[in-house]
Amino acid sequence: MNLDSDLKLLRRSIDAKLASILPKDSPIAEPMLEAMRYAVLGGGKRIRPLLTCTVCSALEGGFENALLPGCAIELIHAYSLIHDDLPAMDDDDLRHGRPSTHKQFGEAIAILAGDSLHSLAFQSIVRAPDISQDTKIKAIAALAEAAGWRGMSGGQCLDINSEGKRLSVDQLRSLHAAKTGALIRTSFQIGALCAGERESSRNFQVLDKVGSDIGLAFQIVDDILDVTSDSETLGKPSQSDETAEKNTFPQL
Ligand code: IPE
Ligand code: IPE
Ligand code: MG
Ligand code: MG
Ligand code: MG
Repeated sequence: MNLDSDLKLLRRSIDAKLASILPKDSPIAEPMLEAMRYAVLGGGKRIRPLLTCTVCSALEGGFENALLPGCAIELIHAYSLIHDDLPAMDDDDLRHGRPSTHKQFGEAIAILAGDSLHSLAFQSIVRAPDISQDTKIKAIAALAEAAGWRGMSGGQCLDINSEGKRLSVDQLRSLHAAKTGALIRTSFQIGALCAGERESSRNFQVLDKVGSDIGLAFQIVDDILDVTSDSETLGKPSQSDETAEKNTFPQL
């Protein structure tokens, strides 16, 4: 096995699946569909679906079984980035080396594109062909938990609400675990579910713990890169956390 070329191939399958599930024409919502495609297909490392598919494959589930559920997580992630960049949130004009979605399409269309990606994510799990109804319900529950008030959007609320204030390290850990950790953690959970693991199994429990640790580490690295890297390399503004008086690990 060659990990680099395998991951490249898997990434290609993920990109193709994402392109196929994004709607292409609508008499009522044309600019919003274009904004959805712009936000999802315009770039990104695809780390979340790569994790979901590789976890499923490692548990003998076959990566294809996790492809649509993994893409569902990526759609939630893409929506979170559209909203994260809005003027009312982080007010960042650059994403994936291009104008942020609201800069390209206007704020209203960007907000609506995010809303529709959120719905499309759950539809994508419902439409996954090779997993049981029981697994779909568990995957939908896990994704809703990770995306919602206790996960990504709850963490984003704490992030925005804490600008200009100093959090303790424990509070900051909770913030990062929610806003970024939860979606990465659920990438592991959903990969295991798609392989048929029960939530009570040892494999599931271990992967859940690994996922939450990697999820936290991922945001810490994002915070560090904001300080140490440059906008051209990142494809998004650097040094923006300090300007916005964000709570980050380097700042603390
Ligand atoms: C960026 O996530 C935002 C965070 C949650 C840290 P990624 O670094 O995974 O974003 P893309 O999709 O690869 O651009
Ligand atoms: C965003 O964290 C986390 C999300 C839930 C989108 P950041 O605000 O640090 O992400 P970037 O640096 O803009 O990608
Ligand atoms: Mg943010
Ligand atoms: Mg941001
Ligand atoms: Mg950041």
